[in-house]
Amino acid sequence: MNKQAEPFLVAAAPQVGSDRAHESAHLHVAGEATYIDDIRELDGTLHAALGLSPVAHGRLVAIDVARLRTEPGIAAVFTAADIPGVNDCGPIVKGDDPILAQGEVHFLGQPVFAVIAADRRVARRVAARAKEFVTIEPLPALLTAREAHAAKAYVVPPMHLARGDARSAIDAAPHRLKDQLSIGGQEQFYLEGQISYAVPLEDDTLLVHCSTQHPTEMQHAVAHALELHANQVQVQCRRMGGGFGGKESQSALFACVAALAAKRLGRPVKLRLDRDDDFMATGRRHGFEFDFEVGYDDAGRVLGVEIDLIANAGFSADLSPPVMTRAICHFDNAYWLPNVSMHGYCARTNTQSNTAFRGFGGPQGAIAIEFILDSIARRLGKDPLDVRRANYYGVTSNYVTPYLQRVEDNILEPLTEQLLATSRYRERRAEIAAFNAGSPVLKRGIAFTPVKFGISFNVNHFNQAGALVHVYTDGSVLVNHGGTEMGQGVNTKVAQVVAHELGIPLSSVRCTATDTQKVANTSATAASTGADLNGKAAQDAARKIRERLDAFAAERGLAGAPFAERVAAAYTARVQLWSDGFYATPGLSWDRATMTGKPFFYFAYGAAVSEVIVDTLTGEHKLLAADLLHDVGTSLNPAIDIGQVEGAYIQGYGWLTMEELVWHPKSGALLTHAPSTYKIPTANDAPSVHLRTALFDAPNPADTIHRSKAVGEPPLLLPFSALLAIRDAVSAVGGHRIDPPLRAPATPEAVLDAVEAVRAAAR
Ligand code: MTE
Ligand code: HPA
Ligand code: MOS
Repeated sequence: MNKQAEPFLVAAAPQVGSDRAHESAHLHVAGEATYIDDIRELDGTLHAALGLSPVAHGRLVAIDVARLRTEPGIAAVFTAADIPGVNDCGPIVKGDDPILAQGEVHFLGQPVFAVIAADRRVARRVAARAKEFVTIEPLPALLTAREAHAAKAYVVPPMHLARGDARSAIDAAPHRLKDQLSIGGQEQFYLEGQISYAVPLEDDTLLVHCSTQHPTEMQHAVAHALELHANQVQVQCRRMGGGFGGKESQSALFACVAALAAKRLGRPVKLRLDRDDDFMATGRRHGFEFDFEVGYDDAGRVLGVEIDLIANAGFSADLSPPVMTRAICHFDNAYWLPNVSMHGYCARTNTQSNTAFRGFGGPQGAIAIEFILDSIARRLGKDPLDVRRANYYGVTSNYVTPYLQRVEDNILEPLTEQLLATSRYRERRAEIAAFNAGSPVLKRGIAFTPVKFGISFNVNHFNQAGALVHVYTDGSVLVNHGGTEMGQGVNTKVAQVVAHELGIPLSSVRCTATDTQKVANTSATAASTGADLNGKAAQDAARKIRERLDAFAAERGLAGAPFAERVAAAYTARVQLWSDGFYATPGLSWDRATMTGKPFFYFAYGAAVSEVIVDTLTGEHKLLAADLLHDVGTSLNPAIDIGQVEGAYIQGYGWLTMEELVWHPKSGALLTHAPSTYKIPTANDAPSVHLRTALFDAPNPADTIHRSKAVGEPPLLLPFSALLAIRDAVSAVGGHRIDPPLRAPATPEAVLDAVEAVRAAAR
């Protein structure tokens, strides 16, 4: 299916599988790439700003709209009462995600009203004084996932997935361990914040420029809110300055407010959040709390495990149900768990509604088992690597996941072998032990962790895509597809696929903005499937054109003629030179009630070895070295894939070691709402000795686009090794006999707490 029909064209132009610069790289570096705020503003453009709730939970008694209107420079004020259609922008559970607060406020930071002004600064200054204009009767608030769990407050009913009899297996096991783990959330920190620019057009239609991963859902949200048909709303996105999941569903509120104001005022309206408001109003990666009990044998094999996964969902469901599903379907990570019982709780708290973030719950599920295996190894006095391998999924047996999908493409062992050799893992562990023996304060640590990540949306029907390919009479090609570009390179990969299929140079192919008027009913660019889905759809479109051209050229004896010549001749002979394309991932199934089926088309694998040095007096650490080996099948573009692997590693390292979210324990205010207090990794945090990244060389056994694999999210799990290397270093303080109770993020404070706990237990 992936074979090019004309071998001589492939030989002349192998456009896939080679390093190609990102299609916009030259624009990015020159500051010439157009983001939403760079679109030249139309005459009469107005600016919106949002008034945010000053309390975490309360009854919304009044909004003094009359007084807001009299503020100098304010052109209009909108509240929930002004929304003609449904006041809801939630993606799955309908009715719990108001665009503007109505009746109650559910978190500190919730948008309550919008003010519109010709001058953005004026609008923002008035909006920032929100508490002067709203009357709210405070109600009791639940601010942490544990509190909400104790109160049985959930955004959706608990989810359960069990295989075998975990309880009996634990009870009968030679060894048992019962513990807790706390993993913090993470802000997407896209460099371009949430933004929408809505332009009213003729006959009750609207064009919304929106920084979004999901133009179709934005189209629907706006249409529902404004009581319009989908064919009256056009949503366009040329590119995002990063999305990372934060613009999968949560761009909707801003699209709806800008569209509401534009429609009501008959003027273009832009809503661009500043960084603090973006932090205060939108959600992020779910923090998780885990309670678990495990039974294991002398080799460290897990015989039975029971775990509660408690996610902080925030005030509404948003994407929490599929995030929890993915967490539960990734608790196994690389390991066969014969008896397992998982219980997922999406705790409803009075905080921002948490949402998609690179990995989509997968990292949270998988880190729990990695933490557990790390503890088991220490208790048995074994190298955690050996305990991990003892639990790996098998190739000829022990290959069925708890959700009953068979792991058919297992490459864990060869990938592990290769990384152990290139990283010199065993030798370095010995060197580190020697170093630590002579170093009472500075302790080094090392860890190896593997990755297995399921590819496909865990909601079956999202696994489809469309594309539109135009060949112009000069031989140049324009591609439009349902995917959105957020820096990950989907446009570059799709253009490579089209160039390859048509047998022309990549320079002849251009991708355009994602637009609901070109390809309809698209899925979010998410779940790492952008290139898998849209690449196949674009290939389908290009193939149709090629086949028409081939037939025509054969007929006219033009088979060897240059592309532009054949195209020009075909045009005059009235051959259709553009085509649509479509793709739907085959063979998927999922039963939501039993949480079983085949949710994933295939798995992507990887492994990492990280080494750190920890100052046990201050709790600070330095990441010394990282060796990453990641499976992308047969890469469409190794340069871009390596960028994705390294970017995900550093982003995940930030999540697990330095990015800390702190809400005020009484008011529920997010205190870390700017880069002054919320620290993301910088170039200085990259491994100081070496960062070595390699792609594992093996084609995808599944029939994906040119046998490649999705790469966006899976490598976010690689930095588990950094967190566990810190734990290894801390454990050296107690001679590796005591499990450090290390939480994430492993900030200096968290590391010191763990050091002190180990010291106390060792005494
Ligand atoms: N890379 C960049 N540069 N910027 C991003 O916003 N998002 C990640 C990943 N890599 C992101 C990124 C997330 S969350 C996903 S799901 C995938 O890219 C989406 O794109 P893809 O499906 O085309 O890989
Ligand atoms: N990833 C991202 N977004 C999604 C998913 C997923 O697996 N399922 C539903 N929305
Ligand atoms: Mo990515 S979290 O699926 O947008």
